[in-house]
Amino acid sequence: MGKVLVIGASGQLGSVVLDQLLEDGQECVAFVRPSSRFIPPDSQLLQVAYGDLADFISVDNACENVKKVIATAGSSVPLRGDKFMADEVRHYQHLITACLNHKVEHLVYISAFSSPYDGLISAFPVKRQIEQLIMMSGIPYTIFRGAAFMDIYYAVMGSRLAIAGVSQPTLLRAFWMTKLYSKLTSGLLENYGIALLPGNGKVKQPFICIHDVAAFMVKALVIPTAKWRIIELGGPETLSWSDVADVYADVFGKKISKLTIPSSLLNACRLVLRPLSPAGENIMGSLYVLGLYDIAIDMTAVSEEFAIKLTNTRQFLLGKLKAYSY
Ligand SMILES: NC(=O)c1ccc[n+]([C@@H]2O[C@H](COP(=O)([O-])OP(=O)(O)OC[C@H]3O[C@@H](n4cnc5c(N)ncnc54)[C@H](OP(=O)(O)O)[C@@H]3O)[C@@H](O)[C@H]2O)c1
Repeated sequence: MGKVLVIGASGQLGSVVLDQLLEDGQECVAFVRPSSRFIPPDSQLLQVAYGDLADFISVDNACENVKKVIATAGSSVPLRGDKFMADEVRHYQHLITACLNHKVEHLVYISAFSSPYDGLISAFPVKRQIEQLIMMSGIPYTIFRGAAFMDIYYAVMGSRLAIAGVSQPTLLRAFWMTKLYSKLTSGLLENYGIALLPGNGKVKQPFICIHDVAAFMVKALVIPTAKWRIIELGGPETLSWSDVADVYADVFGKKISKLTIPSSLLNACRLVLRPLSPAGENIMGSLYVLGLYDIAIDMTAVSEEFAIKLTNTRQFLLGKLKAYSY
């Protein structure tokens, strides 16, 4: 199918997308910023295009001889110098124009789960604007609206195992708040048997692992029915934060104490951070929503259509334990 351009290849999701494409024997172009801490996988099938979505010429050059694009880039957890989400719509407009210039035949984009609470998470209205741009562009598209990723939110609960083996963990990007949070909490779950639960811990989410999100994005390139669609993406089960802690207890064979972070505190942090750190406000907004409102996604039909067997929380943890001694 020609080369696939991966935008955001240095991110936690984009790097898995790239690995899966290369494993499938697919020729790829990884679009990465020169400043990125990207270590290219060792593969003859890989070409690296250095550029920045802010720089139209670099995006346009990267689209040369490319027919399919997978885009995971985002500035929800910004690096120094990035403005949280501020320029993201313009950046994606660059990508869309470049795709049109080079007659790209399929653009696959990761967006965020839909709920009535978009207004509480500042990144979400931006994602919706980008969705609109893509849909109106005339480029055949597949937009996935992803639920909370296990790899990221289990790490937020204090699990170090959740990011074991991850080359580019989102939480360890050079953003002061996530780095500080990770420093204080990483390993609490495995080492001290303490799980941090947003809200009262009883609210349920259809957590999905990044490996499965990447598998859907890659498979969308070859499934004809995937085009012109927005697809909600969740895991195979809907678990409360407390249920997740119970699975950890079972897998590790030890008692886990549950420490809830009240929704009122998360909301207060969200509001306090608003004038100080828009990215911080967004992170608190995400935790506030995910700790307060149940989200459910029935994946039965989509996982059958894509022939992808979804990974549940137990399998995710056992897989990590098997691969990385703990
Ligand atoms: N976490 C969740 O539960 C969840 C759920 C649904 C959807 N999502 C969405 O999934 C997407 C991917 O997540 P992730 O964890 O992989 O994010 P991530 O680790 O923060 O990666 C972001 C990627 O975007 C790249 N990027 C940012 N600005 C760029 C620019 N101007 N030009 C080129 N590349 C740029 C970054 O490159 P550098 O290395 O150069 O910074 C990095 O590769 C995000 O948009 C996120 O909102 C997340």
